Amino acid sequence: MVKVDLSGAMGFLDSTGPDYGAAGQAHRALAEGKGAGSDFTGWLQLPRRVQGEELKKITAAAERIRDNSEVLVVVGIGGSYLGARAGIELIKPKNGPEIIFAGTGLSPDALNDKLDQLGERDFSVNVISKSGTTLEPAAAFRIFRGLLEKKYGANARKRIYATTDRARGVLKTIADKEGYETFVVPDDVGGRYSVLSAVGLLPLAAAGCDVHTMVGAAAEALYELDLRNPDNPAWQYAATRNALYAKGKRIEILASYEPSFRYMAEWWKQLYGESEGKNGVGIYPASVEYNADLHSMGQYIQDGPRTLMETVVSFDRPRRDYEVPFAMGDPDGLNYLAGRGLGEISRVAMEAVKAAHVAGGVPNIGVSVPLRDEEGFAELVCFFEVACAISGYMLGVNPFDQPGVEAYKKNMFRMLGKPGA
Ligand code: PA5
Repeated sequence: MVKVDLSGAMGFLDSTGPDYGAAGQAHRALAEGKGAGSDFTGWLQLPRRVQGEELKKITAAAERIRDNSEVLVVVGIGGSYLGARAGIELIKPKNGPEIIFAGTGLSPDALNDKLDQLGERDFSVNVISKSGTTLEPAAAFRIFRGLLEKKYGANARKRIYATTDRARGVLKTIADKEGYETFVVPDDVGGRYSVLSAVGLLPLAAAGCDVHTMVGAAAEALYELDLRNPDNPAWQYAATRNALYAKGKRIEILASYEPSFRYMAEWWKQLYGESEGKNGVGIYPASVEYNADLHSMGQYIQDGPRTLMETVVSFDRPRRDYEVPFAMGDPDGLNYLAGRGLGEISRVAMEAVKAAHVAGGVPNIGVSVPLRDEEGFAELVCFFEVACAISGYMLGVNPFDQPGVEAYKKNMFRMLGKPGA
């Protein structure tokens, strides 16, 4: 289960501490479906809903992809790809097809790089778009679908898996007409909360992740996160970051000492940025990768404007540790570390950074799970989702809409001459 450590944050708060009364109220609104955007809280039931037939269908499709494809091209943007990418990069399953993510932009150079990466290998496509109309993935899908049709002729359709709305949208229409296997993005689940639906689970399973374990751990985590008192780690995180925001900490940096966490941080940025940044309020979510970024962003974090708070995600133990070797004559002066695991050294570094940053005026929230595996991934996903909804309600916004995303689309479609735009 996720643990939250507030020891590096309490000194920055009033003596009353985080406002757990407000967190409790927000949690009640979420659970009882009485808050803004309550039509989009189906993610709270996703693990229970997918267990059974849906998961069987997902794993059967994943097996087919693993049998006949060296590469799976996942086409999607935002909430339609970040969760899967986060899980695959965090867990790093072995022996699956290579996963290439496409449809996240319109750069021709990036597209050509992906085509080069794909080469002549056998591949399948999982196109994911809830609306079915998002330009970036739609354009990429047209291109990869064309490649599949050229390579496999009439059999191309057996290599296309469409994850989209149950009934509406262009993608659903094409999928029905062409006979693609389809998976549903539930009506009551928004993109950024959808990783534990087929949106995330199909690519995760195709890559080789154990999605049964993942969904089971998620069901358990959501049960535990329903706890209605200040021992709930989601309350602790949501209430503390809101209290720090009220004290002028406008930016939250999510940090981890695991490079494989990078896309989890990207997923988290979307979750919190899109959920909270509206009506002129919201903590700005940023991310860093330690130790690397201690040597690039460390100066700013230690000494720049005191508008930062830091949340550090860690894993209790490494999957495999590595001991620093002994060197005869100690030429580099590192023998004081010989025989010690990098895991222990990294943990000491983490404590040293925390002490320095807290002393420098950056509050620190610790978030930890036991291991970098399917269970750890599911626990972090559920924790951050529940905390995000509670935090958004505490902030007074609807954490489930994203009206601001439409502004650029309107301009772009008009300027590109889309009929009717
Ligand atoms: O969280 C969201 O709702 C967005 O990030 C969407 O997932 C993203 O814009 C992609 O939308 P769609 O799945 O409709 O193509």
